[in-house]
Amino acid sequence: MTTNEILSTLPRDERLAGRTAIITGSTSGLGEATAHVLAASGAHVVVHGRSTERAARVADAIAAGGGRASVVTGDLASSPTAARNFAARATDALGGRVDVLVNNAGIFPVGPTATLPDDDVAALLATNVRVPHDLVGALAPAMAARGSGVIVNITSWMAHVGTPGVGLYPATKAALEHLTRAWAAEFGPSGVRVNAVAPGATLTPGNEASLAILEAMTAAAPAGRIGRPIDIAHAVRFLASDEAAYVHGTVLDVDGGIVAARVG
Ligand SMILES: NC(=O)c1ccc[n+]([C@@H]2O[C@H](COP(=O)([O-])OP(=O)(O)OC[C@H]3O[C@@H](n4cnc5c(N)ncnc54)[C@H](OP(=O)(O)O)[C@@H]3O)[C@@H](O)[C@H]2O)c1
Repeated sequence: MTTNEILSTLPRDERLAGRTAIITGSTSGLGEATAHVLAASGAHVVVHGRSTERAARVADAIAAGGGRASVVTGDLASSPTAARNFAARATDALGGRVDVLVNNAGIFPVGPTATLPDDDVAALLATNVRVPHDLVGALAPAMAARGSGVIVNITSWMAHVGTPGVGLYPATKAALEHLTRAWAAEFGPSGVRVNAVAPGATLTPGNEASLAILEAMTAAAPAGRIGRPIDIAHAVRFLASDEAAYVHGTVLDVDGGIVAARVG
């Protein structure tokens, strides 16, 4: 089945009924699948990206499946004020309460350390580290004051392996994994659970030009296949749900075993 077929035929349930969720970067790829899956479990979701047109398309598809989605767009990396402004607009769209924040929006330019363009360095640090920091700073205090909330950070299997010519992108995800633990310590005692999902090589619009590389990367992992956005979305839903009530500060590898083992 294609991702579109999977997302348009999701089984519906009530495990997130009455909850609200922001999924950053949900106009595409892993975030789009996550928005669909959380909505299929009853959450009112904010669909977000820079493109209003694509966000509206995703929200319409969620609504067509019986889910509830609002569109709130914006370039989060442009300034801390833009990220905080987005947090406020998304909170309003969700009726004033955010139960779940999924920090998914991310970029992944790579290249040798000596020649990685300065603009890429700045954009990686802003999008992958500063934006989640700004959003958690804007949204977690209200969750803590209420005594409940969930934050799920999307990191990467690449944060766990040194790879030549791919230094800063994984480092931003390693930073986000540390923030996951730090935020679990900072907000967990107030009832806010903070965890991360570390996806493996997963085919999305963001990397479909590298299909052959993804196939080669995943061939020797236990799963022996490229990841699907739905694989990641299901893990996010678990961490967002009450089934994960005792899970704090962890990084859940959803990577087909690419970090843990080699076959053959
Ligand atoms: N695909 C993989 O193999 C893989 C593996 C490990 C981790 N990840 C992580 O998973 C996350 C999603 O990856 P993906 O493959 O689904 O990427 P994708 O298809 O390129 O989608 C990225 C999303 O992030 C949004 N975004 C990017 N920069 C933004 C900004 N400055 N402001 C607002 N939104 C922004 C994009 O929105 P617009 O396009 O509408 O602007 C889009 O919705 C990323 O954090 C990535 O690092 C991916």
